[in-house]
Amino acid sequence: MTRRGIILAGGAGTRLYPATLAISKQLLPIFDKPMVYYPLTTLMMCGIKEILIISTPEDTPKYKQLFGNGHQWGIHLEYAIQPSPDGLAQALIIAEDFLNKSPSTLILGDNLFFGAGLEKLLQQAFKQTKGATIFSHPVNNPKRYGVVTMDEHGNATGIEEKPENPKSNFVVTGIYFYDEEASSLARTLKPSARGELEITDLNCLYLEQKTLKVTQLGKGYTWLDTGTHNSLLQASKYVQTLQHYHGHKIGCPEEVSWKKGWISSEQLLTLAQALSKNEYGLYLRNLIHEGNQS
Ligand code: DAU
Repeated sequence: MTRRGIILAGGAGTRLYPATLAISKQLLPIFDKPMVYYPLTTLMMCGIKEILIISTPEDTPKYKQLFGNGHQWGIHLEYAIQPSPDGLAQALIIAEDFLNKSPSTLILGDNLFFGAGLEKLLQQAFKQTKGATIFSHPVNNPKRYGVVTMDEHGNATGIEEKPENPKSNFVVTGIYFYDEEASSLARTLKPSARGELEITDLNCLYLEQKTLKVTQLGKGYTWLDTGTHNSLLQASKYVQTLQHYHGHKIGCPEEVSWKKGWISSEQLLTLAQALSKNEYGLYLRNLIHEGNQS
């Protein structure tokens, strides 16, 4: 069965109040595009074309307004509501019908990943049919995350959610590749002390079954957190700088779709025309002139 994607873009966004009082955090801009464009593009880079977007009852209509059915980008998007933020692992339960027993990739709507070799790395995880693959990244403040411990061969030995005394500085990032068992395993979870179905508990089930692969995102990869006002601005500056010096956009679904041959040059031109008044539209138009569709 073809792997399907899930973007979890709910939550209350309280850490960013008042910026998120009237709008979903994942719709805030990171430089020139909504935050959710980045994880969506990451899924598309993996080759995933069928994606479920899960958000709050208030915000789901806004995502529909933004993306529609996704056909303009050669993908298929569906929507589901998470009535209250009861944990990341609940996404797998909400998505159960959509997944219809296919393997899945869950990505958090506020997670930004960059790196030259990222596409290849993600595609390796995409191909894995049994078990789960998660990605870890070193940080200075591991207490805020799921923390991975590893043996001398680099194999994961444990994952702890927000430990008081972290045993390593490698933390679990917000992209998770699961086999078709994920929804039924998620159904067996009990809420944690903070009242959530923890993604760490789901990952620990795979770890117990010895089917959890933890891939380290080492040097050369960037994983951006957008949890505070400062980190949000830093993310925008980072994207602005990278795009300026590299001359190509990151998190641009139109470009990924066109390069994968999911939309034609004519379709890309139509998309560019709708944005013709700004630099984004000009960029799309220039892609066709550069002519590097695969
Ligand atoms: O970012 C990676 C981290 O994400 C992992 O290292 C942790 O293991 C994992 O538990 C999670 O950390 P947090 O629990 O701190 O995540 P947070 O509550 O910030 O939620 C992540 C995003 O998901 C956020 O944009 C809000 C959204 N969300 C959260 C929950 C709990 C939902 O859409 N629904 C939810 O039920």
